[in-house]
Amino acid sequence: MKSSEPFIGMHKTELDTPALLIDLDKFEANIQTMAAYFTTVNAMLRPHMKTHKTPIISHKQIAAGAIGVTCAKLGEAEAAIHAGIRDVLIANQIVGKQKIARLINLAKHSEIMVAVDSAENVQAISDAASAKGANVRMLVEVNVGMDRCGVEPGKPALELANVIHRCPNVSFEGLMGYEGHTVSRRDRTERTAAARAAIQLLIDAKHYLEKHDVAVPIMSGGGTGTFNITGSIPEMTEVQAGSYVFLDSTYGNVEGVGEHFDCSLSVLATVVSRPSADRIIVDTGLKVLAKEFGIPQPIGVKGVEMTGLSEEHGKLQVSDENVSLNPGDKLEILPSHCCTTVNLHDRYYGIRNGIVESVWEIAARGKAQ
Ligand SMILES: Cc1ncc(COP(=O)(O)O)c(C=O)c1O
Repeated sequence: MKSSEPFIGMHKTELDTPALLIDLDKFEANIQTMAAYFTTVNAMLRPHMKTHKTPIISHKQIAAGAIGVTCAKLGEAEAAIHAGIRDVLIANQIVGKQKIARLINLAKHSEIMVAVDSAENVQAISDAASAKGANVRMLVEVNVGMDRCGVEPGKPALELANVIHRCPNVSFEGLMGYEGHTVSRRDRTERTAAARAAIQLLIDAKHYLEKHDVAVPIMSGGGTGTFNITGSIPEMTEVQAGSYVFLDSTYGNVEGVGEHFDCSLSVLATVVSRPSADRIIVDTGLKVLAKEFGIPQPIGVKGVEMTGLSEEHGKLQVSDENVSLNPGDKLEILPSHCCTTVNLHDRYYGIRNGIVESVWEIAARGKAQ
């Protein structure tokens, strides 16, 4: 790692590019806004770390009131636990000998929880945990309509909870259902109805288990687009929103999300070529900007549209001949998907009033295993 010291105190436009910037005022306001919301409802916030992959940001979220973190990957959970965070949910299935061994190692130093959706996986984790004298907490993942992982609500969820209860060194803590097929629907009314219908499946599963004398202490789900929909449902105990810390242009355009949170992340680019009056080329290509949610756009420059990205180049179409961007000039690009963009960078530069205030390594960047 390069020492962060030489950068602190620089004006952001002096940074070499491409560079990933956080507007600290907006970022801190996002953390506070979400934390404040969760003081008004039954559910608590367990922010998803897959967005920022950086324990210091998780620590800030926890200091603001979050109960722990949600992770997608073991590599993220390792980064969080090594940084002293104990209450960690891996909201995915951990399958295979090597990964289960890593999970058990973490269980010895934390209150780790993991999502499960098969009896074989529960058995394998139980065997490994018993051999090492560890305990692994489990949430049964229920398919609430996203059709990704998860058992069906009703009997399959009950059967899996009972398998966990019968196996040693694992404990059944509750249910998880991620309504990911609803979170980015633009229309607020449509999104609310879709999310409520999805979460109702999780609530039905809870009632079914309780009817068969299985208590369900934890009910976990939710994302940024449904933080105040899923978050306001009294049966929910935890919400896993992550993107709200940065937002991105996609979530910014979701009705009822952009009014609560501000886009705080950008990628600083340098103009490397102006081959013609109507074309500008910048040094931010696919290796620093994700585009699966659409081509990211420059911030605050009128008459310029990013029309394409190749590996190392971003192509801007100029529609206003007065645009005076020339080689060496810098501009900021707003990501269309914050989570996959962050994963392309080594560090964040935290900016306040235009000045670099902090430099944070993205500890779990690229930790896909
Ligand atoms: C399991 C799970 N929970 C929660 C989220 C919420 O994330 P976001 O805040 O980006 O909506 C995601 C997003 O991919 C997810 O996969």
